[in-house]
Parts: sequence; structure tokens; C-alpha cells
Amino acid sequence: MAKKNNQPIVMKQWGLRNILNFLVSLFLALAIILFISITTKTDDGRGSGMESSKAAAGKGGEETCDLFSGKWVFDNSTHPLYSERECMFMSDQSACEKFGRKDLKYQNWRWQPHGCDLPRFNATRLLERLRGQRMVFVGDSLNRNQWVSMVCLLGAVIPSSLKSMETNGSLMSFKAKEYNASVEFYWSPLLVESNSDHPVNHRIPDRIVRAQSIEKHAKHWTDADILVFNSYLWWRRPTMKVLWGSFEDKDGVYKEIEILRSYELALKTWSEWLEFNVDPLKTQLFFVSMSPTHFW
Ligand SMILES: *[C@@H]1O[C@H](CO)[C@@H](O)[C@H](O)[C@H]1NC(C)=O
Ligand SMILES: *[C@@H]1O[C@H](CO)[C@@H](O)[C@H](O)[C@H]1NC(C)=O
Ligand SMILES: *[C@@H]1O[C@H](CO)[C@@H](O)[C@H](O)[C@H]1NC(C)=O
Ligand SMILES: *[C@@H]1O[C@H](CO)[C@@H](O)[C@H](O)[C@H]1NC(C)=O
Repeated sequence: MAKKNNQPIVMKQWGLRNILNFLVSLFLALAIILFISITTKTDDGRGSGMESSKAAAGKGGEETCDLFSGKWVFDNSTHPLYSERECMFMSDQSACEKFGRKDLKYQNWRWQPHGCDLPRFNATRLLERLRGQRMVFVGDSLNRNQWVSMVCLLGAVIPSSLKSMETNGSLMSFKAKEYNASVEFYWSPLLVESNSDHPVNHRIPDRIVRAQSIEKHAKHWTDADILVFNSYLWWRRPTMKVLWGSFEDKDGVYKEIEILRSYELALKTWSEWLEFNVDPLKTQLFFVSMSPTHFW
């Protein structure tokens, strides 16, 4: 549909804003699913979400539930899981209620797998699992939204004096002091270096990427225990200008490259970086590409 009217830029500026409301709830739920799958993967016998899922499936034994096969259901008895007004770190960009939205039903949707029930999200339990760890969301505003949701979910059970938020350049860090845990967001909408890397002033029409350079960003999060990446929306254009050389270098070579190819170049740089610099035994990786909003 987006292709049909040929107005991706307009859509990005207005459409994105309008659907943020929906995204908040959608990603909130996705985040929960994500964590259920994390707990499942790293189950060390201390009790995980998956056990409950198995129990709920009622079949016992080794049978597991496909958490990704399911549907969205309206549930105003258990959701929302946090109150926007009570979340001191909620960003204005995502604060629909604060800015007057009347219909708040979007906060009530939750994911219902076909084969089992998910245990209700428990922030204390998640904090315990994050103890001594660093979790970093890396990407664009969709991931920032995810991150804010996560911060609000966790922050809801932490008193003000035991939580903090710091911003340093492209990195925003939420800290849960009692748990020595941090949940952070790093702005890099194209993952690799680009001229849109400024955390605030990044609306640059003539977008340029250095598809082979990621270290400037990656050095800020390579040591994380959990990494959640996203990148797709910012690649939604026919071509991308790719730079070989540096932004300061007068001899840099610029080439307008078809979008799939440039996205591929960037993801290759990204995945190679991960392969050589991130220890898969220590760090769990997640990558989010297209989100449903892109069909609008
Ligand atoms: C939940 O939604 C139903 C249907 O919209 C409504 O009748 C009910 O009053 C709501 N309950 C709460 C607690 O908001
Ligand atoms: C949440 O988890 C904590 C720690 O595991 C537990 O003590 C608490 O009872 C749980 N809360 C709910 C509502 O299940
Ligand atoms: C706190 O967490 C960091 C990782 O985020 C870890 O390197 C450090 O050792 C932890 N400190 C304590 C006192 O547990
Ligand atoms: C901000 O991050 C840089 C590294 O990128 C670090 O050298 C500096 O100490 C940080 N500043 C604060 C206030 O944490």
C-alpha cells in the first residue's frame, strides 16, 4: 500500500507519529514475548516463563509451545501493565495520554499464543534475571519506543531513589541500582555510521551511510549482555547514498546504491562485527526488521 501512493517521506513523518500510539502497546507486548523467549533460552532451572507455558498447555512432558504462533487479544483486566502517567521516564513522543488522547484501549492488547497461556509479566522477576547485566536496545525510534516501554515496565516496581536515567550523546541509560542492572538505548537508525546519527537532529533528507563502518557506534555496546537491534524503516527509499571514505575526507567516494543492496552491505558489516567482537556465550542477540506498521 505504501508503494502505491509513492509518498514514503510524508508517511514517515505523519504516519509514524499517528501510529506511535498503537506501537506503544504493540511493542510492549512484543517486548514481553521477547523476554519470555530469553527466559526460555537461558533457563537454568531457577524457574522460567516457559515452565508456566508448558504447564498451561496442559499436556506435560517435553512438549513446548510455539510462542510466536498466536493472536492479539483485548484484555482490560490484566492490561495495561504500567501507567503512562506514573512512568517518570516516559518520553513525550510516546506519551499519548499526556497529550490528550481519549481512546486508551490500545493499552489493553496482549499476545495470546495458540498453544498455551503466557505467564503475566512480572517486573521483579525480570529485574532479578537482569541483575548485574547490561541490556542495550540499538536502532531507531521503534526500538527507542520498545526501550521506553521496558523502562516503564521495570520502573513501575522500583522506588524513585533506586532508579536513574542518564543521557550521554547517543546513549540513554536507565539504571536499577539495587539490581546493578542497566537497560539502555543507543541511537543509530541505520546501525552503521550515517549522517543521521545525531540523537536529536537527524532529519536529513539527503541520507548518507558509511556502510562499512560501525565501530564508532559498536564500541558503546559491544560488552552488553543482551543486545536488541532494529533497523528497517530508515531504509525505506528506492536508493541510498553510500560513502566509501570518511565524512571529513574530501576524497570520499559516494555512490547511489539500490536500497536492498545497501541494506545488505550494512547488515553484512553489522553481522561481521558481531561475529568477531561479541561473545555468543555471554551475549544474547535479537534483531527486529520490518514491523507491521510498514504495511500502512
Ligand atoms: C473492559 O472492557 C469491556 C468492553 O469494552 C467493558 O465493558 C468493561 O467495563 C471494561 N472493564 C474495565 C475494568 O475497564
Ligand atoms: C513476581 O516475582 C517475584 C520474584 O520472583 C515474586 O516474589 C512475586 O510473588 C511475583 N509476583 C506475582 C504477582 O506473581
Ligand atoms: C554490575 O554490573 C556490571 C555489568 O553491567 C558488572 O560489570 C559489574 O561487575 C557489576 N557490579 C557488581 C558489584 O556486581
Ligand atoms: C560519555 O561517554 C564517553 C564515551 O563515549 C565517556 O568518555 C564519558 O565519560 C561519558 N560521560 C559521562 C558523563 O558519563
